[in-house]
Amino acid sequence: MTVTSYEKAKIELRDVRKSFGAVNIIHGLDLSIEGGEFVVFVGPSGCGKSTLLRMIAGLEDVTSGDIFIAGRDVTELDPAKRGIAMVFQSYALYPHMSVRENLAFGLEMARTPADEIERQVQAAAQILKIGPLLERRPGQLSGGQRQRVAIGRAIVRKPLAFLFDEPLSNLDAELRVSMRIEIARLHRQLGNTMIYVTHDQTEAMTLADRIVVLRDGHIEQIGTPREVYEDPSNLFVAGFIGSPRMNIVDAVYAGDSRIKVADAVIPLGQVLYGVTAGDGVKLGIRPEHLRVADPGGTALRAKVDFAEYLGSTRYLYCYLPSGEIVTVEQRDGRDFSSGEEIWLHCDPGRLRLFSAGGDRLRAESPAKVASA
Ligand SMILES: Nc1ncnc2c1ncn2[C@@H]1O[C@H](COP(=O)(O)OP(=O)(O)O)[C@@H](O)[C@H]1O
Ligand SMILES: [Mg+2]
Repeated sequence: MTVTSYEKAKIELRDVRKSFGAVNIIHGLDLSIEGGEFVVFVGPSGCGKSTLLRMIAGLEDVTSGDIFIAGRDVTELDPAKRGIAMVFQSYALYPHMSVRENLAFGLEMARTPADEIERQVQAAAQILKIGPLLERRPGQLSGGQRQRVAIGRAIVRKPLAFLFDEPLSNLDAELRVSMRIEIARLHRQLGNTMIYVTHDQTEAMTLADRIVVLRDGHIEQIGTPREVYEDPSNLFVAGFIGSPRMNIVDAVYAGDSRIKVADAVIPLGQVLYGVTAGDGVKLGIRPEHLRVADPGGTALRAKVDFAEYLGSTRYLYCYLPSGEIVTVEQRDGRDFSSGEEIWLHCDPGRLRLFSAGGDRLRAESPAKVASA
């Protein structure tokens, strides 16, 4: 028994804006989501993720711009006619109805024949492993089970796309991980377009085909998890994606493809575009790219503040001579004591550089890249 005939609907936003009164919340977003793609909107609380999702669902009017679903302009269309299903953090189940009735309700409203409703309910129950719960009421279910029913209610409608708004935020940490895997499995099984909103960068990294990083109603970067992690467009994305966070320290471009950080001078091996010698820059280094090694060379001198032991790995929090703190992810099992002086090495290819204003500095000029 399977739920079949999922359409892979493309979703497109063109210059979409939203204001509440005089306050602009979404500032002209353009976004094209491929049919069948799993796209995650991620960003800090209040950046406009839910507002954007609700505009796609039709629960919120757009102030200007256009929204297309499966090639159709739905900007002025009633939410019920857009062919999408939304799953909320709050489950939004009918408390006086059984699980079965909750699943069937939308189909009954749409006057779906009884045998078809039964088929859909059974299929969804099987996918979500809630068959034994069908006669219970929401009050008799755990949080994870309720969220499964909420997802089931979306599945039976065979929507063109699923929209999830922080669906796992009410669950405890362990359940969040297992439900996350189930949502990934659901996408693999159904193959339809999904948009998933979260403030949790781990959820974004693990679920997304592509991540849309939002801040203050602007798109900061769109890319695969690997692209946003390894090749962040700016300091905001660099700091937001990754846990523990990327280390960001002050440095100075010394010219001749070298940068000066604390009391070390590191050769980059490539000329940086967009800065001149003497300019202050921000140097980004991920904790896993720093390693403790011998003094000398281009090593950074640091002093261990404290070490966190996590079994397979250990985080060292260290002071640079500048007083800045950096995190080192260390896997060699060596012990360090508080106050110990160490030397940190990093492959120059792993360094990410940003202007003082937070823009990514690259080794090639945009013009050179474009003409290559
Ligand atoms: N109905 C509303 N009226 C006024 N301001 C709103 C309304 N809904 C959301 N906002 C504001 O819009 C901004 C974005 O909110 P929201 O989309 O809920 O953010 P997120 O989901 O990313 O946390 C916030 O500053 C919020 O206060
Ligand atoms: Mg929200």
